[in-house]
Amino acid sequence: DKNNTSPAPESSLAVCHPAVAPLSYLLGKWRGEGEGGYPTINSFSYGEELHFYHPPNKPVIGYTQKTWKLSSGEPMHSESGYWRPKPNGTIEVVIAQSNGLVEVQKGTFSTEDNVIQLQSELVGNASKVTGIRRCFRLVEGDLCYEVDMATNTVTLQPHLKAKLKKL
Ligand code: HEM
Repeated sequence: DKNNTSPAPESSLAVCHPAVAPLSYLLGKWRGEGEGGYPTINSFSYGEELHFYHPPNKPVIGYTQKTWKLSSGEPMHSESGYWRPKPNGTIEVVIAQSNGLVEVQKGTFSTEDNVIQLQSELVGNASKVTGIRRCFRLVEGDLCYEVDMATNTVTLQPHLKAKLKKL
């Protein structure tokens, strides 16, 4: 139908771009719990869901994240962006956070141990954050990650740690 301007459903095409194939284990939804802290704040726990999706034939993985208070379900931080793996094992990730902060992350992924390491090249519109490091790893089918951050008063320290199961 030449008048049909709606996007093709991902499932009807199912063409994984070769750049995305090594990270296809990410695709889908993940849910779990995490713990946060920092030298300047009280520690806290949270629920989290991640969604990684692949627009067919594009060398990109779309990413959305949302978190909530475990006690009440009340929304906490959320973010979304795009993961852009390259054939040479490097990757760039752009993320916009619900608090207004934006990140450009650069790093590497390993297909041998399913580890993705990211270091911020740019942090924008932040009141105090000067650097962010993110590390993801697949451990016995669970997606585990750690986020470290530096601020204008604190050197790089852990802020978040979580473990998620594939839905
Ligand atoms: C506090 C940044 C993700 C929950 C903070 C602070 C910063 C920050 C700069 C203030 C630290 C200070 O006052 O010295 C970030 C960045 C994130 C991130 C850059 C992502 C890379 C998250 C997520 C959650 C979260 C995912 C929730 C699940 C909190 C909480 C506080 C906090 C509860 C303490 C707030 C308070 O006590 O006023 N974060 N955050 N953050 N963050 Fe995050």
